[in-house]
Amino acid sequence: MCYRRDVEKTRAIGVFDSGLGGLSVLRALRERLPHENFVYLGDVARLPYGTKSAQVVSKYAGRCVEHLLQYEMKAIVIACNTATATALDWLKEVSPVPVFGVIRPGVRAALQAPQSRRILVAATASTVKSGSYLKGFAEVSPGAEVLQVACPLLVPLAEEGWFESPTTRDIISHYLTPFLSQEIDVCLLGCTHYPLLKKSFEAVLGEKVSVVHGGEELAKELEAYLIDKGLSADRAEKGGCRFLSTDVVSTNSPILDSLFGSGSRFEAVDL
Ligand code: DGL
Repeated sequence: MCYRRDVEKTRAIGVFDSGLGGLSVLRALRERLPHENFVYLGDVARLPYGTKSAQVVSKYAGRCVEHLLQYEMKAIVIACNTATATALDWLKEVSPVPVFGVIRPGVRAALQAPQSRRILVAATASTVKSGSYLKGFAEVSPGAEVLQVACPLLVPLAEEGWFESPTTRDIISHYLTPFLSQEIDVCLLGCTHYPLLKKSFEAVLGEKVSVVHGGEELAKELEAYLIDKGLSADRAEKGGCRFLSTDVVSTNSPILDSLFGSGSRFEAVDL
């Protein structure tokens, strides 16, 4: 029994996203859990999820989990907000290992801001449509006023590496202008790509608005789970990361370069 637990501790944590934006989540996980091993799967062949129907996103998310389970994981993280919004409950039921999503950690991060009376969630169209963030806030803070905005043009801008360009700021401004007069306290970045554009969001929203995302909260939740179950890897060890993708990932990808350095190599897999 003890031997089995020791084997389980050394297993990796699977992290998947529709593409490379989830590397922002992986970075937060690795910062807090540098001794753990991760396998990251970017479903770049099917990106974006954020414009697709719940049925299709659930099907793709199911395939990602199925693939990751081949590597004998001890936990799976859905780094993608859209996939969390549409498939977390179902995947938790069917997966043999625990599955963590990004919506609740995002909600907690928003509620920890100095002021969190009125919260704006910026996300993909599918995430907004799912109402998952509204439900998440209603469960833990029924008094918070939560508004949502879909920002479909931001994923391609982040993919192109236009993190702080004037064009990006103009487009963010286009999406957020209707909310600027509404005394927003917090803007929650409810899409994996948006943390890369955080400075542009801050420039548009001004210093009174806290711009947050749930990466760190998710890492804390995962850490607490691993400690509670006695599944943490040896803290004296240095963990590693294997990168998988469903289509070729250029080593020049601006997202990869910005979050992990261009030395990271992706292995192509077929789901
Ligand atoms: N990963 C997605 C999310 O966090 C954004 C990219 C996409 O639309 O697939 O919602």
